Amino acid sequence: MNVSAIVYTSATGFTAQYATLLHHQTGLPVFRLEDTDQLPRNTPVLYLGWLRAGRITGLKKARAQLAVAGVCAVGMAPAVELEKLRRDNRLEAVPLFYLKGGYAPARVRGMNKLMMAAMEKVLAGKSDPQSRAALDAVRHGADWVSQEQLDPVLDWLEPKE
Ligand SMILES: Cc1cc2nc3c(=O)[nH]c(=O)nc-3n(C[C@H](O)[C@H](O)[C@H](O)COP(=O)(O)O)c2cc1C
Repeated sequence: MNVSAIVYTSATGFTAQYATLLHHQTGLPVFRLEDTDQLPRNTPVLYLGWLRAGRITGLKKARAQLAVAGVCAVGMAPAVELEKLRRDNRLEAVPLFYLKGGYAPARVRGMNKLMMAAMEKVLAGKSDPQSRAALDAVRHGADWVSQEQLDPVLDWLEPKE
């Protein structure tokens, strides 16, 4: 896929780590969404954003100023239903990948912190193994960033002959 840059939004660093890994592997320049003023309008990019209540942060802004050719959503869920994520974020036919990032409670601030406190209460009332695991990550943090998860993204960026 012919993209000219990697652009991302990250609140606590996990999405930034994936963007940096992709930068090292492809040589493509990497920008935070806030710093894309220097990019010409409609530059074709791969956009990475973290998931916030099912929405890919920054995606709307990225699509308003750049030609978003592919999207990576970074979250803490073990897996997501890609078609639902696509619908909820109005992505239509844009290629979409899910990457498991992490959770860093000490770096979550403001409204995000309040939202996660409410989520923690909900999870604390549940006893199924998935909710228990999520509660543990919310309370103590977790880091699932891995190179392997980028394989499908790299295949899409640089298809092998
Ligand atoms: C307010 C809030 C809402 C979140 N909503 C979701 C969600 O809907 N789905 C999900 O998988 N992860 C969700 N997360 C987890 C983040 O997407 C995850 O921690 C991600 O790795 C953060 O990326 P960053 O470090 O680049 O900011 C949420 C986190 C916060 C703080």
